Parts: sequence; C-alpha cells; structure tokens
Amino acid sequence: MSSRKKLIAGNWKMNKTSADAVSLVQEIVSAIGKQTDVDVVVCPPFTSLESVGKALDGANVKLGAQNVHPEPSGAYTGEISVGMLRAFFASYVIIGHSERRTYFAETDAFINQKVLASLKGQLKPILCVGETLGERESGATLRVVQTQLESGLEGVSKDLMTSVVIAYEPVWAIGTGKVATVEQAQEVHAFIRALLAKNFGEATAQKVRILYGGSMKPANAPELLSQKDIDGGLIGGASLESRSFLDLVKAAAAVK
Ligand code: PGA
Repeated sequence: MSSRKKLIAGNWKMNKTSADAVSLVQEIVSAIGKQTDVDVVVCPPFTSLESVGKALDGANVKLGAQNVHPEPSGAYTGEISVGMLRAFFASYVIIGHSERRTYFAETDAFINQKVLASLKGQLKPILCVGETLGERESGATLRVVQTQLESGLEGVSKDLMTSVVIAYEPVWAIGTGKVATVEQAQEVHAFIRALLAKNFGEATAQKVRILYGGSMKPANAPELLSQKDIDGGLIGGASLESRSFLDLVKAAAAVK
C-alpha cells in the first residue's frame, strides 16, 4: 500500500446557493464523523465559502475554492485573492481546471502565477492537467500533460512541491459519463509521477498526491483508486449529492 493518504475532493462548480451548500455539507460532516482514513475536501462556489467554512468548524473535512487571482489585491473586478480565501479558512484551491482553460482562456503562464501565489499564502493548489479528445486521438496526450504540468509548476521549490496536489482530468471524460479506463488513467498518472521525480527528486514525487478526475462515480472508483499512482479523486457531478460523495469516500477508505 502506498504511503500517500487518499484524498477525495468535491468540485461543486457553479452549483448550489449558500443554503443548499450548507445542507449538503452538514450531511457529509455528520456521516463522516471523525474518520481520518481519507482526506476529504469540498470546493463550493465563492458565495458559499464562508457559510460552508462555518459548517465545517471542528469537522474532519477541509475547505477549498475553485479559483484564485495571483495578485494580493487591486483593480481586478470580479476576482478573489489568496488572502481573502485564507480569511475563510480555505486550505485548498483548484487551479487550471479545463473549464477555466477553455471558457476563460487561462494560459499555463497565468496558471503558474496562481500556483506560486497560492503556495506563498499557504493555500494548497490542486493543479489540473489533461488532454482533449482530439489531443488523445492524435497521440499528443503525454506531451500536453507534460507541458501543462511543467509550465504550471515552474519556480516551485522541492519543499513546497509536497503541498501541491495534481489532478489528471482528461477533458473528454469530464461530465460526459465517459471515464478513462484504468489503464489509460494509470499510464498518465505514472508518467506524471516520473516527471515529478525528474524535476523534484524521487522522494518528493513519492509524496505528491495525484488525483483522477472525469466521471468518477461509486461504481468505477474502486478500480481506479486501487491503481498504484491514483491517490484519490476530483469529483464533479457525484459530489453534488451526499450519498454518492460519501460512497466515494468509503471506496477510497476501502483501498488497501
Ligand atoms: P465530473 O467532473 O466528475 O462531473 O466529470 C470532474 C471535474 O471537472 O473536476
């Protein structure tokens, strides 16, 4: 068994009012209790961070955001800084999700600035990488993942690298019900770990958690989560309902 503790993170995307978010998180917290086998993170929209953060007080579930701006403050209408997230006791932030790369034209260079600013402010980045269907079909998967990973992590020190979580999310599997096969997922996860070893050393690479994301559900999670280099999941659709999210936490806890 790997020494890395499994991590299940819910990416709620643009879903739930603050009141709905609090009821969902209360169900999760009461079912999870004090379990410590798996690290659990929920990432609600900005508008629910404060209320969800309060509902998580004393619970064994951590708070994450879905985006952050690299600057500490200033004239950036509509944006939120690391300090603002920390003030709500957020400890994680999703960076470089494919929806932000696609719909908001986020570049690897901008994503890298967000990663560096988050680490500086003690916020743990969940850096998302992954290929589109066209890139997979043209055999470009590993090249695309390598570019996104190495550009996103430029300037990160070996020490701080252990605070980074990587999420491999094949774009064609997100919200589509099309999950990557365990072989496809494990191949990319192993490739990412080898790149981390090359750039940060083997010991650091062995400590970094690499999550799979893209239509992960209770039915397919046990097989994915038992792969050597798959250390958890970044869950979209199945994180919006307590039963499926809790089943994913159980699936992660059951992996030996
Ligand atoms: P999905 O989303 O589980 O709905 O495919 C995953 C993600 O986008 O993080």
